[in-house]
Amino acid sequence: MLGALKSRLAALVRRLATRMRLARCKAPQRVFGIDLHVGSRPRLWAPQRIEIGDHSYLGHEVCIETNCRIGRHVLVANRVALVGRRDHDFRTPGVPVRFGHWVGSAKSLSPHRGEGVDIEDDVWVGYGAIVLSGVRIGRGAIVAAGSVVKSDVAPYAVVAGNPAVPVAVRFRSAEEIARHEAMVQHGTFMSSERGFDHFIVQPGSR
Ligand SMILES: CC(C)(COP(=O)(O)OP(=O)(O)OC[C@H]1O[C@@H](n2cnc3c(N)ncnc32)[C@H](O)[C@@H]1OP(=O)(O)O)[C@@H](O)C(=O)NCCC(=O)NCCS
Repeated sequence: MLGALKSRLAALVRRLATRMRLARCKAPQRVFGIDLHVGSRPRLWAPQRIEIGDHSYLGHEVCIETNCRIGRHVLVANRVALVGRRDHDFRTPGVPVRFGHWVGSAKSLSPHRGEGVDIEDDVWVGYGAIVLSGVRIGRGAIVAAGSVVKSDVAPYAVVAGNPAVPVAVRFRSAEEIARHEAMVQHGTFMSSERGFDHFIVQPGSR
């Protein structure tokens, strides 16, 4: 009885902490799904928009400094960074980069202001990976820890390294992918009230 109460309280505190962290997000447009988790000390900033889909997870010290759309069931590990590839203009002769045009400036709008990162559903971005704006990480893909992702990642690919290149595939065949997607679509996947390490996992039958 006391244990159940304690874990419900812990879940409530966790949810409140996530809501407080999301409330400190600085982006003109913000869209947040249900059942999210945001770890401690995040930096959430974008010149235009940050969108995070249902049941996704952002680890500790995640740093978002570009527009982004993060899908459903996405796992972003600790210390991942999504950053603007062309945040600062460094190509105008006579202007030191420190004073170059910045993507967040309200005084003069950068041509790169609308660029961002697109992470589709069911993606895992591993610890410390850096993803540059302009990149789309396809549905179901895996980005290895410490990778630097500068170009698009195909659905269900496993990429690693700097620059990140395909090193493996997540599933062995198109049939396996189709089965996975159908089961996910008809299943139920949520964080549980019982606490951090408990989930509701009911894959749909196929
Ligand atoms: C990407 C990952 C899932 C791959 O898993 P795996 O079981 O090692 O898969 P594989 O063995 O098929 O790896 C494929 C290749 O990628 C290489 N590789 C794996 N992780 C790598 C990394 N972080 N950087 C560079 N190469 C990596 C492997 O060495 C292997 O290459 P090889 O065939 O030449 O030996 C895993 O290595 C990883 O990075 N997981 C993320 C861990 C993490 O961030 N944890 C935080 C908690 S959320």
